[in-house]
Amino acid sequence: MKRLIIKGGNLLNGTVKISGAKNSIVALLPASMLTRGKCVIHNVPDISDVHILIDTMRFLGSKVEFNNGTITIDNSNIVNKKIDAEYATKLRASYYFMGSLLGKYHHAEIAYPGGCIIGSRPIDIHLSSFRKLGANIQEKDGHYIMDTDEIVGNEIFFDFPSVGATINVMLTAVLGKGTTKIINAAREPEIKNVADFLISMGANIEGAGSGIITINGVSELHDGEITVIPDRIEAGTYIILGALLGEDFTVEGIVEEHLYALLLKLKDAGVTYKIDGNKIHINKCDNLKGVNVKTGVYPGFPTDLGQPMSTFLTQCFGQSVFEETIYENRLRHIPHLNHMGANINSLSSKAVIIGPSELVGKKVKATDLRAGAAMLVAGMIASGTTTIENIEHILRGYENIVDKLNNVGADITYIDD
Ligand code: UD1
Repeated sequence: MKRLIIKGGNLLNGTVKISGAKNSIVALLPASMLTRGKCVIHNVPDISDVHILIDTMRFLGSKVEFNNGTITIDNSNIVNKKIDAEYATKLRASYYFMGSLLGKYHHAEIAYPGGCIIGSRPIDIHLSSFRKLGANIQEKDGHYIMDTDEIVGNEIFFDFPSVGATINVMLTAVLGKGTTKIINAAREPEIKNVADFLISMGANIEGAGSGIITINGVSELHDGEITVIPDRIEAGTYIILGALLGEDFTVEGIVEEHLYALLLKLKDAGVTYKIDGNKIHINKCDNLKGVNVKTGVYPGFPTDLGQPMSTFLTQCFGQSVFEETIYENRLRHIPHLNHMGANINSLSSKAVIIGPSELVGKKVKATDLRAGAAMLVAGMIASGTTTIENIEHILRGYENIVDKLNNVGADITYIDD
């Protein structure tokens, strides 16, 4: 069983460097399947989700090399094959192969996607969009089977600005006929990163990063190259740790604009920091005060930082209300925080946090990826020793987290027995 043993209370001193964004690379890899050419992707995080996607690409005949943070891809011999649960259910982002294979081959067969159990996570917006672009979709034996004679551009309005559906429409429509418009598209920075990669391959996409994206289909894509943007969720997690434990602590490789929601909430709570280009210097602050945090779509407070933020709020004086609005099941870490001494009452997707609480090391579980990050923050500020089980979730999203933190003063042991 994979576990982390954390001896809490150590201050953090030095610099942590941020890796490439998980939510970009998991879309960039399937996006590369749209070309028969060669692609180069820089600043790739070495996380387990990346390896699962590389395995899937190799299964489809892609030649993929991953060295020193750079992935090179040669797609000259790829074949469109049915992607079984063995590959698809290991992560949510496997759904991006639906868009890229449908767009390129007009046929895709793929098992249902997996991912963290943080809500029902339907993909109805993806499916209705594929249909609007001409696809006929059937479900059989746990697989989606999608077919069309041609992809034809359309105007697609999203009831909700889904990140995955926005990227999937871009992947499907870039090689389609005519123009596709996404109205109420998601605006997360990772979407622009994927669009920039497609544009480097010859795609015609305008407006990525805004609520309206226009894709003019082209007949072919060629070689492409892109650098993965910094992971704003990883950066946010280390910034939260800096506000609680920093002592001459720096997080390097951030994009301030991607982190406004978190930074301004921390400021309201009494945290001081200094930004110098792509670095933020942030130290332990006393007399933190409670703030209300409600997650939302970008540029709102990111749902993926909500759980680590809730651990931060246990250290603030007074009452904080934390509300999760994107997923219905993202407070499963709260009983574990209470087990460590937090004072949190939660009902449905809302938690009332009374602080500050002295947290005490206990045996807890990472119930999902970001819940794991929340427990890691808790273990690092707690007295005594915390054991976090089920840390496979954490390893899916945080590159080299144990070494990164131990190098700046943490005392974390990784055990796999
Ligand atoms: C992506 C991120 C995830 C992040 C989320 C919101 C990846 C691989 N994952 O997930 O880390 O938490 O954005 O920022 O990039 N929904 C539907 N129908 C759909 C699609 C979504 O009801 O067809 C709902 C979901 O159940 C969820 C909400 O919309 O409640 C957000 O989903 P979406 O923005 O699509 O997130 P993901 O792409 O799954």
